[in-house]
Amino acid sequence: MPCHNKKSFFDEIPQRAETPKFESRIKYELGVIGAGQMGYAIIKGAVSSKAIGTYEIITSDPNSEMHEELNKMGIQNINDNVNVISKSKLVVLSVKPQTLPHLKKELASMGGDQTVISVMAGVSLTHLSEMCGSANVIRIMLNTACLRGKGVVCISSNPNVSQEILDMVEDLFRPMSQVLEHVPESYMDGITAVAGSGIAFVYQFVEALSDGGVHAGLPRKLSNQIAAQTVLGGADMALNSGKHVGQLKDEVASPGGTTIAGIRETEKHGLRSAIIEAVIAAAEKSKGN
Ligand SMILES: NC(=O)c1ccc[n+]([C@@H]2O[C@H](COP(=O)([O-])OP(=O)(O)OC[C@H]3O[C@@H](n4cnc5c(N)ncnc54)[C@H](OP(=O)(O)O)[C@@H]3O)[C@@H](O)[C@H]2O)c1
Repeated sequence: MPCHNKKSFFDEIPQRAETPKFESRIKYELGVIGAGQMGYAIIKGAVSSKAIGTYEIITSDPNSEMHEELNKMGIQNINDNVNVISKSKLVVLSVKPQTLPHLKKELASMGGDQTVISVMAGVSLTHLSEMCGSANVIRIMLNTACLRGKGVVCISSNPNVSQEILDMVEDLFRPMSQVLEHVPESYMDGITAVAGSGIAFVYQFVEALSDGGVHAGLPRKLSNQIAAQTVLGGADMALNSGKHVGQLKDEVASPGGTTIAGIRETEKHGLRSAIIEAVIAAAEKSKGN
């Protein structure tokens, strides 16, 4: 079900030029437990798009590599899960799934006016609902391209979560994503594999394409740039040309030409099969979490 454009809940939140240090507020709009790679991507994506003001965000993380970056943005990290969970309207859980049991006590006391947004791969809504007191519980899967407003964000929730809360969550994530969908929870492992992990497979492909270019005599910088832009251009064609990717591939491969010579090699070395297996392995891993 595609999400519709609506007036943003966060439009109401005024942006402030400077953020006071270590301000103590009664309530924060967004509390982030675990400000690592994904927690930082969400914060950066939300702040860059002005979906939320920096002074409305608080994080708790013992020693994230991202602390310096967050400090520069004016975000407070108080390294205190109890305070962040109790003082935030929306609580993003962006810790590793194995950390979740350590948050049991803090989460159990959450109230019905609070919402938990979990980005943890493989942690079910049922499990989260059991842990999070009377809070509303939402699961999302996304990838780090949210940092640059080019992410994929998929949302699953229990049927009792109100439209108002879903709208609020959509408002937060819409500016960081190009794809924003509500999906059945059963899709989550597949989305984890294709979007969350898949972006790493794309990086591997770009790196390999560039390595090939260097082998063919291109300077590294130029080869990197051409490889990344070729992936971007191909993705744009796949999304917007209206043609099947198989047809797009056929159109590039002229009889007896350079492209078909290369395709022979990618088939010989199992490029497509390797990617399919990588996605299956990631989805299985997500299921097993
Ligand atoms: N990275 C991705 O691309 C991606 C994509 C989709 C979903 N996810 C999900 O996002 C979650 C986080 O992944 P990540 O890659 O961001 O991991 P990460 O970089 O390791 O971030 C997790 C952060 O949580 C901190 N932490 C550990 N224990 C904590 C506690 N008790 N309270 C508060 N913070 C604590 C960690 O600190 P220490 O380093 O000191 O332990 C770390 O800074 C995972 O559940 C993953 O499934 C990630």
